[in-house]
Amino acid sequence: MLANPVMTASGTFGYGTEYSHLFDIQKLGAIVCKGTTLEPRDGNPQPRLAETACGLLNSIGLQNIGVEALIREKAPIWASWRVPVIVNIAGETIDNYAKLASRLDGVAGISAIEVNISCPNIKAGGAEFGANPKSAAEVTAVVKAATSLPILVKLTPNTSDIAEVAMAVAEAGADAISLINTLKGMAIDITQRRPLLGNITGGLSGPAIKPVALYMVYEVAGVVGLPIIGCGGITTASDAIEFIMAGASAIQVGTASFTSPRAPLDVLQGIEQFMKQEGINNITDLIGAARR
Ligand SMILES: Cc1cc2nc3c(=O)[nH]c(=O)nc-3n(C[C@H](O)[C@H](O)[C@H](O)COP(=O)(O)O)c2cc1C
Repeated sequence: MLANPVMTASGTFGYGTEYSHLFDIQKLGAIVCKGTTLEPRDGNPQPRLAETACGLLNSIGLQNIGVEALIREKAPIWASWRVPVIVNIAGETIDNYAKLASRLDGVAGISAIEVNISCPNIKAGGAEFGANPKSAAEVTAVVKAATSLPILVKLTPNTSDIAEVAMAVAEAGADAISLINTLKGMAIDITQRRPLLGNITGGLSGPAIKPVALYMVYEVAGVVGLPIIGCGGITTASDAIEFIMAGASAIQVGTASFTSPRAPLDVLQGIEQFMKQEGINNITDLIGAARR
């Protein structure tokens, strides 16, 4: 059970440590760290970011320090924090996910695992697993079997039927479902006549994707009984409240942290203010309110 419903989104808040001097990050509901793989990764060629109308394209390609450095260097810091830290994991094979989950099991400072089956920026694995119900369920089942930690499975919008994928991961043992990851996109530099990103394609995030994310949360909340963590373009408290009213039990703030690092805390305080204004004592009164 979280102290409050506001989390950071993976890949937009580092390991949390980078932000701890900017505001009191301990006040957040949870911190989700950068996607972690078995081995360290350098990520994709530059340029890896491009601004678009109301959005951001990224093709980071899971640059990260690898699971062993995370356990050695980051987990001991997290163990002293009040705010729970969720480790986001990604693999190129199903076996990679199993190994990561069992390695993280029982490590002090790690409260849960978010299984990223939705990264559009790596050649093998990633979003491929999340695009169809069968492989999404397979990854979920092996991670569940490999750890006693709660698992959140993070879905991709780049699929033909997100409700089917959600039902499959729920049946395979997910404890919660996070959605959405970025939408696949691209931009072209017309003077160079070349794609703007070094990786050619990237993932679109930010306010531009909010209506899509909101719709998908609404859709999935109608078919699974698990807690849903809504994510995608949340910048203000009213954005967050829309996701909660669509059926999300918690939300994640991502790209908004790049323009205002304290955005997650501002969103939290705005939700509290809204509840006070509306005379609501318990957030559960708002969850799914737009569905009734
Ligand atoms: C620069 C960047 C890096 C990201 N890295 C990851 C990652 O490592 N793992 C993951 O599951 N999602 C990653 N994401 C996706 C976000 O966690 C989030 O799902 C997505 O950006 C939509 O939310 P937003 O519009 O609030 O940013 C990344 C997003 C951005 C912008």
